[in-house]
Amino acid sequence: MGSTAAASASALPASAGAGENLVLILDFGSQYTHLITRRVRQLGVLSLCVSGTAPLASLAGLRPCAIVLSGGPHSVHATGAPSFPQGFLDFAADAGAHVLGVCYGMQLLVQSLGGAVEAGDKQEYGKMEVEVTAQSSALYGEGETGKRQTVWMSHGDEVVRLPVGFEVVARSVQGAVAAIENREKRFYGLQYHPEVTHSPQGMETLRHFLFDVCGIKADWKMQDVLDEEIRTIQSMVGPDEHVICALSGGVDSTVAATLVHKAIGDRLHCVFVDNGLLRYKERERVVSTFESDLHLPVTCVDASEQFLSKLKGVKDPEMKRKIIGREFIVVFDNFAHKLEQKIGKRPVYLVQGTLYPDVIESCPPPGSGRTHSHTIKSHHNVGGLPKDMKLKLIEPLKLLFKDEVRKLGSILNVPESFLKRHPFPGPGLAVRVLGDVTEGNALEVLRQVDEIFVQAIKDAGLYDIIWQAFAVFLPVQTVGVQGDQRTHSHAVALRAITSEDGMTADWYYFEREFLVDVVNKICNNVRGVNRVVQDITQKPPATVEWE
Ligand code: XMP
Repeated sequence: MGSTAAASASALPASAGAGENLVLILDFGSQYTHLITRRVRQLGVLSLCVSGTAPLASLAGLRPCAIVLSGGPHSVHATGAPSFPQGFLDFAADAGAHVLGVCYGMQLLVQSLGGAVEAGDKQEYGKMEVEVTAQSSALYGEGETGKRQTVWMSHGDEVVRLPVGFEVVARSVQGAVAAIENREKRFYGLQYHPEVTHSPQGMETLRHFLFDVCGIKADWKMQDVLDEEIRTIQSMVGPDEHVICALSGGVDSTVAATLVHKAIGDRLHCVFVDNGLLRYKERERVVSTFESDLHLPVTCVDASEQFLSKLKGVKDPEMKRKIIGREFIVVFDNFAHKLEQKIGKRPVYLVQGTLYPDVIESCPPPGSGRTHSHTIKSHHNVGGLPKDMKLKLIEPLKLLFKDEVRKLGSILNVPESFLKRHPFPGPGLAVRVLGDVTEGNALEVLRQVDEIFVQAIKDAGLYDIIWQAFAVFLPVQTVGVQGDQRTHSHAVALRAITSEDGMTADWYYFEREFLVDVVNKICNNVRGVNRVVQDITQKPPATVEWE
């Protein structure tokens, strides 16, 4: 992860204030670490998340003015429990950086500075009341003594002895240490998680910490990010150099391409590949947005025959993904080659819509127990490029979360309806037709069912509430009766979920009337379907896609 920290640093927009107003989050494996990063950014401050064990030099190189030590699943006493690099605390003190430990981060701070953390009798999990005990404190301000707030706790160990120079400024109603500080040294700790919504005043505590305690300025603005990215791309791409970009029809590649187009104009060459696995009228819809709304020159390659012939007879989902990834690269190489012949020179750069979570997910924190996110399904965003690829990468969204990309897209005049599109997997309908995608007219049936379902969701005004909705074609035939005739046709499944980021998901509870109407429309309009089921499984245990 040290390399990620270094890579992020080199891509840091200067105007974002790296070193002046940068908050670094050291990740010790908590499921909430990314949430801290997001909360700080929501307050208008640039924050980056790096591994808690990244080398000191890479942290120092970022020149943070505040550092948050995240929570984590470990006990500080466990063998191999992750810790910050040697010399970190001296570095922070010398640099004048404020350090806030959250949960495990606070315990690590205490233990490292000579205090004591023990397995407590007051294990606290879930909602808990804490009370400010200090007359005056940096974390809560003046005159807050005796005030209580509900917070989210998640700890088995507790602080039982403070390091020299620290004081307890809040305790849980059970008496456990809830907040500590050493103002002189600029070290602070919260035993609870201010970043989660179950701590209703947590955001205010973070705001107060960043602005009033650390004196940071809120200067992380999307317009500045955009201006800086444009300048960076203009100085990176030589005046005669050309850039290529594969558009998927999704928000990320569209915003990335629009941004690069703004920077270098028609030296950007976009390609949209119809792999035969697209949704109903997707090609027409996407191309029209690119051309009419975004004025983005795009070459449309119809490679459906090529993809489908390679997928014939393939049933294994991972195999499908690999074939699609491979074919995509063949088409892409072909495009680059033809372009070279046309413009008389080889394109030098490739634009990718990689997002910050992709970058972090690709390098899970030590001790997290996670290996690579790709082990569940081989998504091919980061790490899926051929090893011998000669193109250099431009990843203008590499430091942004999805909602920030939407904001950027909005500044770039990408139509709102486009920015709000539900995510769609790279392998397309191949992972929604279970089994062999080329069998019968499965793809066509799925396109029609999916269109009816998603259109009904839009008509009911539910599209923006639902995170992702789609239909799945089941290779199962069931008996039905339509008119006076017995039928033996296919069953399809509908899946609609709510989610924050796709990592976990809940199924959406539709009104009965809505479902009755959709099922009628599907069975009456789509030949070959006589049964509709709804997927009511959360993630976990199920994944979002069926394959
Ligand atoms: P899962 O099925 O892993 O999906 O719970 C989480 C999110 O990722 C999308 N997804 C993919 N996206 N390539 C992609 O680009 C893939 O192979 C892939 N598989 C799933 C899925 O649609 C959901 O939004």
